[in-house]
Amino acid sequence: MKKVLVTGGAGFIGNCFCKLLLKERDSMVINVDLLTYAANPSTIADELKNPRYVFYKEDIRNRAGIFKIFEIERPDVVVNFAAESHVDRSILDPESFLTTNILGTQVLMDACRQYGVERFHQVGTDEVYGDLPLDRPDLFFTETTPLHTSSPYSTSKASADLLTLAYYRTYGLPVTISRCSNNYGPYQFPEKLIPLMISKAMNDEPLPVYGKGLNVRDWLYVEDHCRGILAVLEKGKVGEVYNLGGHNEKANIDIVKIILKELNKPESLITYVVDRHGHDLRYAIDPAKAMRDLGWAPTTMFKDGIVLTIDWYKRNTPWLDECVASNKAWLKKNYTDRK
Ligand code: NAD
Ligand code: TYD
Repeated sequence: MKKVLVTGGAGFIGNCFCKLLLKERDSMVINVDLLTYAANPSTIADELKNPRYVFYKEDIRNRAGIFKIFEIERPDVVVNFAAESHVDRSILDPESFLTTNILGTQVLMDACRQYGVERFHQVGTDEVYGDLPLDRPDLFFTETTPLHTSSPYSTSKASADLLTLAYYRTYGLPVTISRCSNNYGPYQFPEKLIPLMISKAMNDEPLPVYGKGLNVRDWLYVEDHCRGILAVLEKGKVGEVYNLGGHNEKANIDIVKIILKELNKPESLITYVVDRHGHDLRYAIDPAKAMRDLGWAPTTMFKDGIVLTIDWYKRNTPWLDECVASNKAWLKKNYTDRK
């Protein structure tokens, strides 16, 4: 992999992937990111100093702009992380989810066809499989579980996955897809459960738990996800889908309690709020295919990863404060005005 073009490389997972490439491979890394609300520009400050890293502020929906970058850079591999990624935002305002997540993916794949690449990798989510019942712990998502989406977000991601497979079958574009469970770790924007609760708890503010807090998510440390994508790129088979997850299911309320305990804050900060519309009950990945075919396995246990994560937020309050300051309107819309 000489030249890897990463989209969304200023976001939570894309940035971790760029860091991994720069640290453990000798590839050139080209980051194409629009720097939406979800990207704090200081996230990429260190990478910008690296001579093997180039940054373009561009919208993946802008065909002319994206084709120009391909013309200049001629990437060997493209990894598409760029997306609108927050379910609650997709419920209140779906439009940008459909344009970025579906049409943006199309633009990137058209550029890949035009200029030729060794691989186009689509970063997908387990949310495309819908949800599992809470009382059937024996059930897991496999790569052949039917797509059955709930939110505008998951529907846009499922659409992008289908389009990616259509470009493989119809045009022979060498694609792969990974579908990962919920990520946590440093640099996650404080609108998602774990960083939001850390941020609130550190400021002694109420922690807004949707419904009864019994919904279950399957948590994976962000670097384990990125190593999984690297394994798909280096050992995966074109045209295939790989599920990535670490069998680490937890109810939301238990996550919140772990965070409060770690920060030495009282459980009286927990506030139950109106549930999310269409709230998926349980996600649980079966990662057997990636483990068997790619030799991939997560290495960070949740009990260690959550301490690393909380510690990172404690040490990076300026980064967190910048995100919170730029996110005030959203916090009012989704929490104060919640219905
Ligand atoms: P994020 O919201 O933190 O980052 C998304 C990045 O994409 C941001 O830097 C943003 O500026 C950029 N972006 C958004 N729209 C763009 C556009 N039109 N053009 C160019 N750049 C644009 O998201 P994340 O959590 O890092 O997720 C990355 C990918 O991983 C997404 O595709 C998401 O669906 C997928 N995923 C996320 C999780 C998770 O738990 N966060 C789990 C599985 C899969
Ligand atoms: P989130 O981090 O938004 O990820 P996703 O919806 O993609 O799984 O939410 C994780 C879980 O936490 C989900 O069940 C919704 C719940 N949640 C809350 O209870 N309160 C909150 O303020 C947020 C953001 C999420």
